[in-house]
Amino acid sequence: MRSAGIVGLGKALPAKVLTNFDLEQMVDTSDEWIFERTGIRQRRVSSENETSASLGAAACKEALAHANVAPEDVDLIICATTSPDMLFPSTACLIQQSLGCWSAAAFDVAAACSGFVYALTIASQFVSSGAYSRVLVVGVDVLTKFTDFTDRGTCILFGDGAGAAVVAPVEEGKGVLGFDMGSDGGGARLLEIPAGGGRHPATLDTVNQRQHFIRMEGREVFKFAVKIMGESAQRALDRCGLSSRDVDWLIPHQANTRIIDSAMRHLDIPVEKVYVNVERYGNTSAGSIPIALHEAYHEGKLRDDDCIVIVGFGAGLTWASCVLVWSLAPLHTSEPSAPATACRME
Ligand code: UT7
Repeated sequence: MRSAGIVGLGKALPAKVLTNFDLEQMVDTSDEWIFERTGIRQRRVSSENETSASLGAAACKEALAHANVAPEDVDLIICATTSPDMLFPSTACLIQQSLGCWSAAAFDVAAACSGFVYALTIASQFVSSGAYSRVLVVGVDVLTKFTDFTDRGTCILFGDGAGAAVVAPVEEGKGVLGFDMGSDGGGARLLEIPAGGGRHPATLDTVNQRQHFIRMEGREVFKFAVKIMGESAQRALDRCGLSSRDVDWLIPHQANTRIIDSAMRHLDIPVEKVYVNVERYGNTSAGSIPIALHEAYHEGKLRDDDCIVIVGFGAGLTWASCVLVWSLAPLHTSEPSAPATACRME
């Protein structure tokens, strides 16, 4: 088995910003309530022409350039999304078409906000086994298109965005060291879009009853998240024979600062080692962890050999964590697309 790690990163965010003050004009809420309960100040909202495929493709393009990998050399595209452009074809196939990755297999992973960590774990298995050498992993969601902007319990939370990573063989001992993945279908109804699938195909009634929008039992999801984030990250560390003292950066799913705080406390990781950008983007679902990884890296926070834990939770219910030894050289400001350390293939 060879080591598999991230050798390039990209992100894409819509330009339009929706602030808490904008939301005050739309529903009975306040900037103070939203910030205190979630840590969010603003989020990005996709335009009519911005979709999971277009944002995902833009993030992938940057990641490929960063890794110095040509589109035609990509073996596999895994797109984590629960807001695909269409029920089918997959968003991964649409991204393939847009980038010209003609040698790649492509499929979507539906694990909601845990999707990027699921997809990264799958990619690392293909690369470690030797089956594939260059895998594009993209986490993207445009949940504002499925948000009921009359429901103050959900419309304050979500934002749109994409993050992508190229996964390839890296120096032994670097890259993905271990993971924890799980799900609990018993909690499936806690966070859902009830209609639009085979169970309740679109009808006038489903539209009138607003069943094509996100519905959430916020308090129940909160309780689940608080429990699972710390537990899952701990299990992933245990499997690698590491403890939270070995962690240089915790990069959690950016849903709510109170949930992030609880994970931090469970793991006993100090605040200086936790990356948080939820105030700027809200919950971008599958996009949240790769966008955070991209920003932490570009801010010069992630260094070669750093031990990084990423952990997510979401609808399903699902959860996933990965322990990574960072395999990308630091970016130099004079070289905006510094070549990755380890994208030379065997
Ligand atoms: O990636 C996974 C996606 N989902 C999540 O991460 C969601 C997890 N859950 C949460 O983050 C929190 O449950 C929320 C932020 C959604 C809500 O916070 P909370 O502290 O659990 O509030 P709550 O639902 O218990 O509501 C408390 C009060 C209620 O009023 P009453 O019944 O006490 O009078 C709500 O009606 O706050 C009210 N409320 C609001 N007030 C102002 C609910 N939403 C709002 C709002 N503005 N936007």
